[in-house]
Amino acid sequence: MSNAQQAVTKAVIPAAGLGTRFLPATKATPKEMLPVVDKPAIQYVVEEAVAAGLSDVLMITGRNKRPLEDHFDRNYELESALVAKGDDDRLKKVQESSDLATMHYVRQGDPRGLGHAVLCAAPHVGDQPFAVLLGDDLIDPRDPLLAKMVEVQHRTGGSVIALMEVEPAQIHLYGCAAVEATEDEDVVHITGLVEKPEPSEAPSNYAIIGRYVLNPAVFDVLRETEPGRGGEIQLTDALQQLAADETVGGPVHGVVFKGRRYDTGDRGDYLKAIVRLASEREDLGPEFRAWLRGYVTEELHEGAGE
Ligand code: G1P
Repeated sequence: MSNAQQAVTKAVIPAAGLGTRFLPATKATPKEMLPVVDKPAIQYVVEEAVAAGLSDVLMITGRNKRPLEDHFDRNYELESALVAKGDDDRLKKVQESSDLATMHYVRQGDPRGLGHAVLCAAPHVGDQPFAVLLGDDLIDPRDPLLAKMVEVQHRTGGSVIALMEVEPAQIHLYGCAAVEATEDEDVVHITGLVEKPEPSEAPSNYAIIGRYVLNPAVFDVLRETEPGRGGEIQLTDALQQLAADETVGGPVHGVVFKGRRYDTGDRGDYLKAIVRLASEREDLGPEFRAWLRGYVTEELHEGAGE
């Protein structure tokens, strides 16, 4: 396979969603800009791509997503105000996001699904393997996943998906993979994929979490992929095609992730992500944990007395 030896250098981040689950916060602010502690969720995702060596980042955006571009650009007014104050710490924070990666943007226009969003990246990506990172999933930087996926893609020349075992009752929220074991205990060979199956129809409890390293053959498949679940062009359906015929774009493998993942796509999980990450922060953690302990004890105490 000619693509097998090409290094992965480009990351694609779909960010065109309307964020309706977080209204009214997302009426005029993209959901990707909602802070997780003190950093917008999207910055964690870009940092993760960069940490895996992918510093060319293409964001698939849409209307009302201008703040994303501003966040990863310079802000001279703010910078000079902080320089004038001699506030180097905050200046560093402002400059961090603009120095992070080489950012590119393309607009999706019609939101026709994740598969369609990924297809919008075709002209930028060209004929080389590339990564896709979904913003609703945050992967703890202490548990690297993407670098392993890049390594597996390089070895196999095919496509690689991140998987995580979930409770069977949760599988209808995810794409689901039928798998067989390989010699590497963290890597499975994917024989089939289905988007958001009913638990009774799920081939396993391996859920797709939002990280992919894909052979560019996926673009041709996406061009032919009919709308699937929810009337949307599903990336999972295109990957199912690749898994079903390995002559098209090589084999499809899954890297099974056992580390810390935070879901910020749902309000309850978003709150949990903030509490967990804030508790672990060196600067905020000690005081926050002490407060949290007191708060929880008080709550439980009151709850018991009800
Ligand atoms: C998307 C994918 C799904 C995957 C999920 C991971 O769904 O279509 O296969 O399991 O991301 O977060 P969404 O959550 O955008 O509906």
